[in-house]
Amino acid sequence: MTTIIAIANQKGGVGKSTITRELASVCAINGYKTLMIDADPQGNLSNSWVENLEKLNPYTLAQVLIRQQNGKKEDQVNLKMAMIGTQIPNLDLVGTDYRLIAIEKEPPSTIYRLKRELAENASDYDLVFIDCPPHLGNALESALTAADYLLIPCAATAMGLEGLSQLAYTAERVKMDINPDLKILGALVNLYKSRRYLAGEAYRVIESRSDLVPYIFKQVLNDYAEIAEAPSYHLPVLVTAPSSKAAEQIKEITKELMKKINLPIKRKKVREAKFK
Ligand SMILES: Nc1ncnc2c1ncn2[C@@H]1O[C@H](COP(=O)(O)OP(=O)(O)O)[C@@H](O)[C@H]1O
Ligand SMILES: [Mg+2]
Repeated sequence: MTTIIAIANQKGGVGKSTITRELASVCAINGYKTLMIDADPQGNLSNSWVENLEKLNPYTLAQVLIRQQNGKKEDQVNLKMAMIGTQIPNLDLVGTDYRLIAIEKEPPSTIYRLKRELAENASDYDLVFIDCPPHLGNALESALTAADYLLIPCAATAMGLEGLSQLAYTAERVKMDINPDLKILGALVNLYKSRRYLAGEAYRVIESRSDLVPYIFKQVLNDYAEIAEAPSYHLPVLVTAPSSKAAEQIKEITKELMKKINLPIKRKKVREAKFK
């Protein structure tokens, strides 16, 4: 069975791509066959793994989800064709670039395609993480339609909470109309650049909106240079700085996540991860 987790917040710069990259890496290293899907046309997640996506694979999420011009069935790209490997064993990526923007001009029925593609072409993965764009529309709705769970990284500032009510509204609407199985896991406090706030204070800010988020992860993520630097190595912080405080927090967050979705933190047969 595949568990699909969408990472979303309508606010940009709150750590969606970072958290997708880091949590997916811990899961893969712990023995889960894991797929990351970059559903943001900015392509930050893709760029954090590969230098030149197009050179590695001409197909991206855009060609999978957007109907091809000539409409011929044999020209349609499936999700498998858009997958690439990463430097982490067990961890693959469906990359994206600016061309995904065109999905917003597609008809509303487009939002079912990702779910279908995952069912047909990713059933051998244990976990799928979808990194969502910071705006409402077909890309975000595709992710919420396909997902079992929604995880919301939050910057703990009054501004950071702005997009939250809109996202909660969208998630509720998707849940009611399209995907009744969608469960909102809760908010993950990322203290990136919110130096004014301490963990306790940040908690209280988000707790004040318990109408929007049912749960706040006990483990927060602090602002660490190692996290900001990891993408330039195309590796997660778990590999670039394995004994850092940052790696420790990431592992703790993953543990909390796995508990929430009822999966053991490690699979029985853990293959020893090897890095180049
Ligand atoms: N906890 C953190 N510590 C240090 N840098 C962080 C942290 N979280 C995010 N960043 C950095 O902040 C920027 C925005 O994060 P990103 O994950 O791209 O946000 P989003 O996907 O929500 O737009 C990136 O440059 C990222 O490296
Ligand atoms: Mg992002």
